[in-house]
This record gives sequence, structure tokens and C-alpha cells, in this order.
Amino acid sequence: MTETGIVYLVGAGPGDPELLTLKALRLIEAADVVVYDRLVSPEILSLIPEGIARVDVGKRSGSHPVPQKSINRILIKLAKSGQQVVRLKGGDPMVFGRGGEEVDMLNQHNVTVKTVPGITAAQGCAATLNLPLTQRGIANSLVYMTGHTRDDQVPEMDWAELAKAKTTLVIYMGAAKIIEITAKLMEAGLAANTPAMAVSNATLKKQRQIQSTVSTLAQDTQEANLDGPVLFVLGQAVGLVCAKGELENAGKEKPAVIASI
Ligand SMILES: C[S@@+](CC[C@H](N)C(=O)[O-])C[C@H]1O[C@@H](n2cnc3c(N)ncnc32)[C@H](O)[C@@H]1O
Repeated sequence: MTETGIVYLVGAGPGDPELLTLKALRLIEAADVVVYDRLVSPEILSLIPEGIARVDVGKRSGSHPVPQKSINRILIKLAKSGQQVVRLKGGDPMVFGRGGEEVDMLNQHNVTVKTVPGITAAQGCAATLNLPLTQRGIANSLVYMTGHTRDDQVPEMDWAELAKAKTTLVIYMGAAKIIEITAKLMEAGLAANTPAMAVSNATLKKQRQIQSTVSTLAQDTQEANLDGPVLFVLGQAVGLVCAKGELENAGKEKPAVIASI
């Protein structure tokens, strides 16, 4: 334990422990305490050596997660007591991980904080499927968006910009709003038969993925009854994977593919 504590905001990646960075593993092994989220996989938690304290802030009482204010209090208290704290988050802490808010809060309390990146779900998911998120001539921009705002609404986006043919759109936390999001995209001009997929538990043994099109994505996802965290990927680049016909419901509906591989 040091005299003045420190918080390392560490990305745990999408689940597969082999996708943890060497730096993340070194810090986990050297920590006094690891404060972790719901999305950190059991496989990664098993890498925390015995004797290192753990605080689970992903636990839900009723249906409510531990409030961010309580997490903040825990981090400040641990750091101010001189501990080396690893704040372990699923994916990358700075991609839909509230990492920025925790950095601000720790700065305000004069606690040293350092960020260690992790592989975000989009990258983990794309890698497991050999899916190129960008591809020359097919996808020249890549957008990560959240599926809902803090008050549970569909975010206000420039839908016409997102509907451009050469964009790959990745939607995090979108399961509850995918009907509305796909409707907005089609209204804005995205072709109904644009390739789309839903991937759950990416990089873990229980990963599942379905192929679909923008117009059928919501219904196909519901019918597939995917459990665990789900990521949606839409765009012509997805068609490159669908074209191989190896996905769970391949052949149910053939998305329009503008290039073959
Ligand atoms: C609060 S966000 C956290 C994102 C995380 N910071 C990252 O960089 O991946 C949670 C959302 O990330 C996505 N997600 C995280 N891990 C995933 C996985 N293994 N498979 C599929 N989606 C995942 C899901 O859309 C989930 O609802």
C-alpha cells in the first residue's frame, strides 16, 4: 500500500481473458483492491490473485445497479486510504463506460487517476467474425452509438448522416430500442435490405450471432431470444460476413451485398 493512493481505470475487454492487455493484467496482479462492473467476465475475475480485495459494484439490488454516486464514494475512500485501486470495466473504460465521469470526479477529489485502454465490444465482436468494420470502397466511416439516453429515449442523431451507404454503424445498449432505431434509419434513407447483425456475449464461449437486414433486425433478434449483452452492427461491411453463410440463421433472409469476397 502506498501513502497516497491511485485509481487505475482499466479496460477488461469484451470477455475473453486473452484479450486483456499485459498492462491490465500486471495492474490487476499488483492491486490492493479491484472494483469491478457487471460486464467483467468470470474468466477475467478468476485472474485476480487470492488475497486481493474485490468490490462488486455491478451487483443489482432489485433491478437497480449500484448508483454511480456510491461507486464514486467507494473509489475516493479506497484511494484516500492509500490503496492502489484497479477500477475494472468491461470493454474500454472510455467507450460508453462512464470513464470520463469517474476521471472528473477523481480529479475533483485530488485522486491520481490513470486510464488503461481495453478492447471495446465492437472490436472484439468484429474480430471473432473476421468482420472488417471498415473496408476500402465499402465502408469508409465507422460510428459507435448508444441505443438509449440516460432518460431511456432514442438518442437524437443525424439519421441522414448515419444512413449513408458507406458507414458501418455499431449500436451499444440498443436491445430495447432497436425497432425505433432501425425505423429512423430507414426513414432517413437507409435501404431496408442493408446487411445487419446482432451479436451477444461476443468473444465468450456462449457467443451467438444472427444475420439479418435493417428491416428485419428487430424481429430476428427478438425471435433469437439472445441473452447477455448484445451489440448490433449495420452496414455493407456486415454483408461480407453474411455472404459466407456461416451465421446462425444464414439463408433465412439474404441481405443485399454490394461486393463479394
Ligand atoms: C455500458 S456498455 C459498455 C461498453 C464497454 N465499455 C465497451 O467498450 O465495450 C454495455 C454494452 O456494451 C455492449 N457489450 C459489451 N460487452 C459485450 C459483449 N461481450 N458482447 C456483445 N456486446 C457487448 C452491449 O451493447 C452492452 O449493452
